Amino acid sequence: MEIKHLKPSLSFFLLLIACLYACEQDKGAVDITKADYTDAEYEVIARTLNIPQQRANYFVTLPTHMARAGIPGPLVSSAKATLGQVLFYDTKLSANNTVSCASCHKQSLGFSDDVALSKGFNGNLTKRNSLALASVPNFDVSYKGGNNVGSLVRPAAFFWDERAKSIPEQSMMTLQDAIEMGVDLDELSKRLENIAYYNILFTKAFGTGKVTPNRVTDALEHFINGFISTDTPFDEGLNKHADPMVDFANFTAQENRGKALFNTSCANCHSADFTSVVQSVANNGLDIDYQDNGVGALTNHDRDQGQFKVPFLRNIALTGPYMHDGRFETLEDVLDHYSEGIQEHPNLDKRLRKDGVFDGEALRLNYSAEEKAALLAFLHTLTDYDFIQEEKFSDPFK
Ligand code: HEC
Ligand code: HEC
Repeated sequence: MEIKHLKPSLSFFLLLIACLYACEQDKGAVDITKADYTDAEYEVIARTLNIPQQRANYFVTLPTHMARAGIPGPLVSSAKATLGQVLFYDTKLSANNTVSCASCHKQSLGFSDDVALSKGFNGNLTKRNSLALASVPNFDVSYKGGNNVGSLVRPAAFFWDERAKSIPEQSMMTLQDAIEMGVDLDELSKRLENIAYYNILFTKAFGTGKVTPNRVTDALEHFINGFISTDTPFDEGLNKHADPMVDFANFTAQENRGKALFNTSCANCHSADFTSVVQSVANNGLDIDYQDNGVGALTNHDRDQGQFKVPFLRNIALTGPYMHDGRFETLEDVLDHYSEGIQEHPNLDKRLRKDGVFDGEALRLNYSAEEKAALLAFLHTLTDYDFIQEEKFSDPFK
């Protein structure tokens, strides 16, 4: 239904992407000659960085099922993504050289953190749980058609309360955040401009060695846009069968049982095909009285209280603890919540109420031990073990 609604804008968008794609291909051809650092340049780079002399290719190829569904992949420039890789792992991006983006977004954990709240540059804790970054750009691309919050249609965005409209905007906020990185942007530009390897990498990415905050966040966006994490048993199944509702031949009976349960009670928010979430934000009944009201704390509207971003569940087995405040240590705890813990908050989403209506009581799914085990087995089919080891996404500092 929603797809139909999006069609005109989606096809226009596809056309646009096709054009951009063609240009990018052209640029790609030029890029490859630029990709090679001269021996002199590489000598400078290799003193500090472990990146190949022939630049890694960050161009995104989506799995068959996404291409088939008409999902356009993000456009990634390898020169910018390479610079983004170095920036992402560089502690010089924080006020006192102590934390990098990767301190709270660890590759081995699907680019999330394994603590409820992460430590910022001066040891203070973040207000919320770190969000996993794998396949974040799919949100961006596939959300462009807009989504419902209350009765408003709006595009999707970043952070648990969706206060940033793009990755560059998110990164600007994070860099300057008093808890997270606390860096002065002018100071940061000066700091990086004095470093020989950055001079080379900025020149390759932007044509000159000049460092500006916009260039920094642009490069970070290209790097993060390359995080398409779809090498999973789930994607293998969907590539083959096309329909997420049918049993997958490569799944065990238990995984298929879990998938069916997920499709009945979870997919209407989190999505059945894992290419884009169905609902951008929702209240999933964690509390009657939220300490942190998410979107509501920003807008002050009653209907937004306790509404948080519906997170993508790719690599979910790696990204605990769970929820905006990291209250659940394990996926078993999450399933217990949906099974018997959903709270009757006034904004509790109708999908988690009896009969799917706003005045219905909070659902009690009352999963048996066997059903919980099946759901858990299914959630484990969403893990991409190649992605968390891929060198072009890993720490380049020697
Ligand atoms: C001190 C820990 C910390 C550091 C450092 C950090 N982040 Fe985050 N990141 C978080 C937390 C916590 C959230 C969720 C915050 C919220 O929603 O209010 C988040 C959210 C995000 C999101 C939003 C994802 C989504 O799905 O909405 C992106 C993108 C992101 N970070 C990228 C970065 C980048 C790029 C850097 C480096 C410039 C960075 N982060 C540095 C902790 C950190
Ligand atoms: C009404 C929409 C909705 C439905 C239906 C729903 N969820 Fe969620 N889910 C959310 C929202 C919103 C959050 C984040 C809530 C927060 O942190 O405050 C979430 C969080 C999660 C998380 C934690 C993600 C993370 O990165 O921390 C998991 C796991 C999860 N849901 C699994 C499920 C499962 C399994 C089901 C079905 C039994 C389900 N969800 C049904 C909206 C929904």
